Amino acid sequence: MKFFVDTADTAEIAELNDVGLLDGVTTNPSLIAKSGRDFKEVVADICGLVEGPVSAEVTALDAEGMIKEGKELAKIATNVTVKVPLTLDGLKACKALSSEGTMVNVTLCFSANQALLAAKCGATFISPFIGRLDDINIDGMELIAEIRAIYDNYPALETEILAASIRTANHVKQAAVIGADVATIPPAVLKGLAKHPLTDKGIDAFMADWAKTGQSIL
Ligand code: E4P
Repeated sequence: MKFFVDTADTAEIAELNDVGLLDGVTTNPSLIAKSGRDFKEVVADICGLVEGPVSAEVTALDAEGMIKEGKELAKIATNVTVKVPLTLDGLKACKALSSEGTMVNVTLCFSANQALLAAKCGATFISPFIGRLDDINIDGMELIAEIRAIYDNYPALETEILAASIRTANHVKQAAVIGADVATIPPAVLKGLAKHPLTDKGIDAFMADWAKTGQSIL
């Protein structure tokens, strides 16, 4: 499973990239607003930090506008992935941009049929939003499983399932068990995946015993 980090915070991105954990980055207008920075500048900075796909979302709502904005965003760097919402206009823009060789992430997906349409329009990634479904008491993980089953039925569909709106470590595990191709994860959740209380307890015990030997490795 590939790991993307869901943030526009370049310090967090650099830290996780240094560990070797990052295959890409996703941003959205809310994350850009939170960064307080110029949109194109921050996208350029992120693209310079990571080699993998960096999602940058259009803000036009009509296909023509999305295509124009998408082309502008794609000029920033070769790893820019243009993010469009899952509407008929978004699908039209997806088809146009992907036909020209631009990577497209179709976002705000809440049904398996929407995911099928995105794949038919050449999406590089489909982003089903797990957490926002859970918020309204619908099992987001069931959606990931349905999309996995549908895409596996039709191997000609090359779209990757990018599990989004991830809120917990359990979301990451379940998405991996089902076979999502990618998970985009908030930095705190991603760092938290490394943590286990028994790991900390084990380290404490080993260090205490090692101190008794009076030895040093170097
Ligand atoms: C994905 O690309 C989105 O940016 C993100 O996962 C949305 O997550 P949220 O529902 O926690 O805002």
